[in-house]
Amino acid sequence: MDRDSALLELDDAFVQDPYSVYAKLNAEGSAHRVRMPPGVPLVGGLPVWVITGYDAVRSALADPRLSTDLNRIDGLFAQKEPDRGKRGGFSSIIASHMLHRDQPDHTRLRKLVSKAFTGRAIAALRPEVQRITDGLVAALADRDDDVVDLLDAFAFPLPIRVICLLLGVPVEEQENFKSWSAALVSGNSPEEATAAASAVAEYLFELIERKRGGTGDDLLTALVAARDVDDRLTETELVSTAYLLFVAGFETTLNALGNGTLHLMGNLEQWEALREDRTLLPGAVEEFLRLESPLKHATFRCARESLTVGDTEIPAGDFVLLAIASANRDPERFAEPHELDVRRPAAGHLAFGHGIHHCLGAPLARVEVQMAFNALLDAFPAMRLAADPGDLRWRNSTIIRGLDSLPVRLNHR
Ligand code: HEM
Repeated sequence: MDRDSALLELDDAFVQDPYSVYAKLNAEGSAHRVRMPPGVPLVGGLPVWVITGYDAVRSALADPRLSTDLNRIDGLFAQKEPDRGKRGGFSSIIASHMLHRDQPDHTRLRKLVSKAFTGRAIAALRPEVQRITDGLVAALADRDDDVVDLLDAFAFPLPIRVICLLLGVPVEEQENFKSWSAALVSGNSPEEATAAASAVAEYLFELIERKRGGTGDDLLTALVAARDVDDRLTETELVSTAYLLFVAGFETTLNALGNGTLHLMGNLEQWEALREDRTLLPGAVEEFLRLESPLKHATFRCARESLTVGDTEIPAGDFVLLAIASANRDPERFAEPHELDVRRPAAGHLAFGHGIHHCLGAPLARVEVQMAFNALLDAFPAMRLAADPGDLRWRNSTIIRGLDSLPVRLNHR
């Protein structure tokens, strides 16, 4: 069969319900040709492969033949930008970090920041994360209106404040991040998103200059020292790494909170069970991540050489999407995969990826999401969804799985 004859569109119907598309595809095999909608950056309109099913996705995530280094591909990041000298062009700033690098650069760059994510480092951050969480919940409780968009009022600012704390962004400058992040998330237009990403990069450059030679104990000061004292990364890699931590840390956590809340609101007996027994919370968070993974696909891969997945050969040079959302709802791996069950053993889910790019921020994300639900359960025990679930819309994104908005009634008076 001509391998293009079975092309399938990843369109809005797919965005609203990817799971039924995946279930159908996965019943036929593990590797499928799909076409991306025209608006998608880099690969709009192009055919790509999608890998489905738990075993195939897990192996592919750890397969060194599938490179995340999109810089290797000629013309992919059109480099027609003003030369910014040692800063590098904008596209190299958004793509010179560990997630878009193969070995050995990946290892070098990951090692420079991994100390900030050890158990000890995260334990030291806990009181601050708790303070941020409590402050946001108190602000929610003070509002006059009982119906709020929980994403906007809580799930969105929480991870932004935490990542700003980690990077050492002064509190009075954090408001900028909120508006840039909103533009990055909204998906209103690629131009708006690019302008916002560019503004974040510019700000980070300026912040890095201020951190130079400083004595702060934040991650950015440590990275600047690794650059200036030990020459372990380039200037472009430095700002690119800061950029990655910011973007990777807020979009995902925001949606882990939103998606988890949505499912609990649809399964109130499980909300009550969590209220009664908080020891269920860590397992529940894993279950939210499994059931509605904030990254429904891992970032794009490119085949460095041809490889066989199931009984399909993927030629060298082709693009590949690894469908985390399909893996995490594979009935061969998880019983009743479309149901929320906060008591199930959800460990082994692939929401944080697998292999060398396994999420570096996972320990921090777990702390944030667990604390957030703990605080919501305490403050708003009678919270309910304030919309018909059928009216909620999923954001138009190839990678992200998250709602446009999540209206809830706090019922706290
Ligand atoms: C990588 C998910 C929160 C930092 C990844 C990957 C996934 C993921 C799936 C691998 C992507 C791939 O292989 O293409 C998530 C989810 C989160 C979350 C679901 C929240 C619930 C965070 C946070 C941070 C972070 C809070 C940091 C503040 C990173 C970094 C990488 C990464 C640095 C790249 C690791 C590498 O390339 O070695 N994340 N993430 N993430 N994540 Fe997260």
